[in-house]
Order: sequence, then structure tokens, then C-alpha cells
Amino acid sequence: MKNKLVQVEEIPSDVDFNSVFEITTNNVSYFTHGFFKYPCKFIPQIPRWAILKYTNEKDYVLDTFAGSGTTLVEAVLHKRYGLGVDFDKLSQLLCKTKTTGLSQKQIAYIDNFNKNVFKKGTISPSAFKPDLHNIHHWFSRNNIIQLSHLKEKIHKVYLRIKDKKVYNFLLVCFAATIRKCSYADDNSPKPYVSSRFIKKPLMAREAFTKVCSSYLKRIDSFKTKKLGRAMIIAEDARNINAPKYAGKVALAVTSPPYINAFDYVRSLRLENAWLDYYGDSNILKFKRRQVGTEIIPSEIYCHKTKPTGHRKLDSLLHQIYKKDRKRAHIVKKFFEDMDSTLIEVHKLLKNKSHYVMVIGANRIRGINIPTHEILIDYAINRGFKLHNLFSYIIKNRYLRIPRSGRGGIIKRDWVIDFIKING
Ligand SMILES: C[S@@+](CC[C@H](N)C(=O)[O-])C[C@H]1O[C@@H](n2cnc3c(N)ncnc32)[C@H](O)[C@@H]1O
Repeated sequence: MKNKLVQVEEIPSDVDFNSVFEITTNNVSYFTHGFFKYPCKFIPQIPRWAILKYTNEKDYVLDTFAGSGTTLVEAVLHKRYGLGVDFDKLSQLLCKTKTTGLSQKQIAYIDNFNKNVFKKGTISPSAFKPDLHNIHHWFSRNNIIQLSHLKEKIHKVYLRIKDKKVYNFLLVCFAATIRKCSYADDNSPKPYVSSRFIKKPLMAREAFTKVCSSYLKRIDSFKTKKLGRAMIIAEDARNINAPKYAGKVALAVTSPPYINAFDYVRSLRLENAWLDYYGDSNILKFKRRQVGTEIIPSEIYCHKTKPTGHRKLDSLLHQIYKKDRKRAHIVKKFFEDMDSTLIEVHKLLKNKSHYVMVIGANRIRGINIPTHEILIDYAINRGFKLHNLFSYIIKNRYLRIPRSGRGGIIKRDWVIDFIKING
């Protein structure tokens, strides 16, 4: 039987099993949540709901796929300690910066930098060249000059005052400027240059100035608020190796990557190249690390997928393999990787504490994959109990997962609420 859709501003504290919500709030950008348009973020209402329901001040809250830091920001806003894991260096920068308040002196310094960075002297290109093979496809000559000037000036600030908080804040503003002054389409999470809708990019000097003053205002409005703290404790959710926190975490909340739906590394490549975190020449190394990676060597996918022991998954893999061998292996690898992350989260959680996971169903080559059902079975096998399950409809297009050509848009997200029971 289909459940009734309930419109809510916030998820109620007590939720009936199998409820379906439409979350109507547009309030998703307060404090630092609006810093940088990170693809496929979840709405802050989800981690906030879990944090308020399951934790107390000073508790540890973990997000193993921290992304833009939505969980960590909610943790610090509620005076908890946020622990993040993400292999993406831009994600790590966002997590650190978005969870750190700035002093009046730091705010004044950044404001002054913003007012003067394009004023004094002439703008000249620095020696830095981002590792992008076809840079002129993405940026005009003038914007390349302005961006490299900006990057050098930000670096000089660090050399001069050695203040990581100021430096990271400026880098986040720089990262948020990149897409605006590129030819890449503004509305698609993946960078591509549309031949139908010719974009007129902003000039870096005006884009940076606007971003920086708007982010400063947000930080400034929270300067009297007492915050918790957050840190990145590891890079790979499949191998966290943080014995210091074993058995100490009060709550884990996360939204893992979607199978075969979104390539974060490709999507964030312009920003990462300008920040010099990775570029076109070493992008493959980073793509391989993603849970849900599409990099599967042909010598592997020329063979049938080996049985996983999960009857339903094996039958689905068999059907996908008949249509697309590589994709069958991608799906299998996704569940293997997620299984490793379940083991890692289990080690870190306190006994009887909750693990809230947000995940969408997928359709691969026309075959429906009930990702949440399969993950529930995997989690039970690793010492979790299913406590609750509900779903919500996603209204904001940017927060949805586009999967052109491979089965439309994931319409709703499942929220799986587990309890750690063994160990
Ligand atoms: C759906 S996003 C998380 C978005 C996050 N909830 C937010 O609101 O910004 C998934 C994240 O998983 C990260 N990721 C993918 N594979 C990973 C791995 N092996 N270890 C850690 N993080 C990984 C990606 O870099 C991406 O940031």
C-alpha cells in the first residue's frame, strides 16, 4: 500500500515507519551551509533531526562521506564535535572552513583583502597554470589572468600572516568563484560547455568580490554564537583507521555516493585544478578512490561477476551483466565498498548508538536496484539492527542526482535509521 505524502517544514522528532515526507523549507543556506555549490548535498534538516534526537552537547558525530560538510556544520552549530571522512581535498577544505568561526580581526583582514586585491598595481598572470588540458575551452584569457593573480595574492596572504583560518576562507571564496567565471553551464552539477546556451561568464574580479562579501556577512552574523568543533579524521571511508575514536561516536549520519550516478571527481575538476589538488594528468588516481567508481579494468569485467551471497543482488547483477558487463561490476563494487564502510562505522560507534544513512534507489540499464533494501541486509550482517525507515521527496533540483541517459532522476531519498547492536 502506498503511504500518504506528508508536507512538513522539519522532520518531526518521532517518525512512523515508512512515512513519506515532502520537506517544504527553503531554509537550507543559513550560517555557512550556502558556501560553495557542492553537488548532491543533503539538506541540513536531515542531520539536524538526527543530531537533536540522538546526541547531547560535546558528543562525537561522524559523517563518513562528509562532502561539503552539512553534517559537520550542524554538529558544530549544536555544540557537538563533528568528525568527517572524505578523500576529496576540496571537501576537506570546505569541512574545515565551514565549521570555523572567525574573529572580528580576521573578518576585518579578509574584508580589506577583498577591497584591495584587484586595486593595487597591475594584474599580471602568475607562474601557476592549472593542470587542465584544454583550459581555453573553459576560461577566457582575461579570466585566466585574473584567477592566477587571485591565487597568488591569496598564497601571499598565507606567507605573510600564517593564519590558516583566513587562508582557508579565502580559498573557499576562490573555489566558489571558479565556476561562475568559466564557460561551464551554471545549472548542471557536471562541468560542460553548452553549445546551445552560450554563457557570458562573470569576470573573476567581480565574482570573487561578491562571493567574499556575501560569505563574510554570513560568518559575521554568527560571530557571537558558541560553536562546537569539527575535524577530518580520515580520507577513505572504507579504511578509516582512527582507533582514538573507536567505540566513542554517539551518532553517524551520512549520504553515500549513488551507484553509477555521480562522478564527484569529474564534477569538481575545474575547482580542484585551480586549487592544485588534482588535475587532468592525475584525475584517474582520484576517480579510482570513489565509492561507486566507474573505473573497472576490462580484464575484470570480461568475466562474470562472482556471487556476492546476497540472493536478490546476485539475480540483479546477472540481469545487468546480460545488458552491460561493466555496469554489473560497477554495481557489485559499490556494494563491496559500502560493506567495508559499514564495518568501519560499526567500529567507531558506541554500542546502541544510531547510524542514519540517506540513500536513493537506482535504475541501471532499465533494472531497478533497491539500494536501501540491499544495504539494510548488509548492515544487519555487520551488527546493526534496523530501527526505522522513511523517505522524503527532494524539491531542489540541484540537490537531486541527474543521470541523463541512464534512467532519469532519483526521485526520493530513503532515510535508514540503524542501531549498532553487536560489539
Ligand atoms: C553524496 S556526497 C556527500 C554530500 C554531503 N552529505 C553534503 O551534504 O555535502 C558523497 C561524498 O562521498 C565522497 N566519497 C566518495 N568515495 C569516498 C571514499 N572512498 N571515502 C570517503 N569519501 C568518499 C565524495 O567525495 C562525496 O563528497
